Amino acid sequence: MKPQFKTLDQFIIEKQADFPNAKGELSRLLRDLGIAAKVVNREINRAGLAGVLGETDCVNIQGECQQRLDVYANEQFITALKRGSECSAVVSEENDEPVIFDSPLPGKGSYIVAIDPLDGSSNIDVNVGVGTIFSIYRRVNSSAIKPHDLLQDGNQQVAAGYVIYGSSTMLVYTTGNGVNGFTLDPFLGEFCLSYPDMMIPDQGRIYSVNEGNYNRFPESVKQYIRYCQEEDQPTGRPYSSRYIGSLVADFHRNLIKGGIFIYPPMIGAPNGKLRLVYECNPMAMIIEQAGGVASDGQTRILDLEVRGLHQRSALFIGSKAMVKKAMEMIELYSEVY
Ligand code: AHG
Ligand code: MN
Ligand code: MN
Ligand code: MN
Repeated sequence: MKPQFKTLDQFIIEKQADFPNAKGELSRLLRDLGIAAKVVNREINRAGLAGVLGETDCVNIQGECQQRLDVYANEQFITALKRGSECSAVVSEENDEPVIFDSPLPGKGSYIVAIDPLDGSSNIDVNVGVGTIFSIYRRVNSSAIKPHDLLQDGNQQVAAGYVIYGSSTMLVYTTGNGVNGFTLDPFLGEFCLSYPDMMIPDQGRIYSVNEGNYNRFPESVKQYIRYCQEEDQPTGRPYSSRYIGSLVADFHRNLIKGGIFIYPPMIGAPNGKLRLVYECNPMAMIIEQAGGVASDGQTRILDLEVRGLHQRSALFIGSKAMVKKAMEMIELYSEVY
């Protein structure tokens, strides 16, 4: 059944009414992110024509060659957050150091935003779904920004969300009271409520892992993959293997259909590849709000101590029953990563 027509702005204002002493700062911050997402979406939709494809000659702190669209998206989100003045610092995948804005006006700058401005960069030039991931914290220190403002664990997030620039462009977010999805209506230029109260099925039939790395995986992960591939009618196996290579796209598919996404520790990458602060933590907040589970194989993602802005973490995320089964395999092989 089609949800009642409601734009993102109307939804945010409505939800804000549930918090009488809210001053609207988080609402304005979410709207600032929505505006930047529309600007980035426009460029992505013209990518082949707008001269934003291909690589720059810069390498980011991750050791990745920055794509033009990585840089473009990063600039758009940082500019929108600076202009909106609800945020006082940005931690970005594309910036080695945090971007600290000048001392905000009184009552402004209450938030810190961690962002992956363009997720799935390797898919940009081949027209496959990419995304933006964001995580919002309240700043702790009321005067100058201190490291502990920036290194807060995932439980401290006040909001988390992502934009997926796919066959349609969607913004999905949570402020800790459920997960809601909005589709960008290109004619209105508005994000409109399309997926209210999103919940991930407890069990799914999709597993998502880069099997090209199979020989580098721990035995437990190899066994779990084999488990997914076994014939077993009662549990609906074999599952289907789906791997897009953009976390946002693989995550979004599983959120809707059920499934598990795994980026495990492996030989040469003992903490996997994904970054805790602006990939794993926001996705973990969203999946838990949608009834799913997120772990690094030993610890709940949101409980992990944040020691560095670009710290990596293994990630097992998705349907409760599927992540539970993978954790049982790790237990069985008593692997301590
Ligand atoms: P980003 O483009 O922001 O650097 O993130 C890419 C990540 C994530 O989107 C995806 O799940 C993963 O890299 C894919 O890694 P592999 O190509 O190693 O499978
Ligand atoms: Mn990258
Ligand atoms: Mn990413
Ligand atoms: Mn990225």
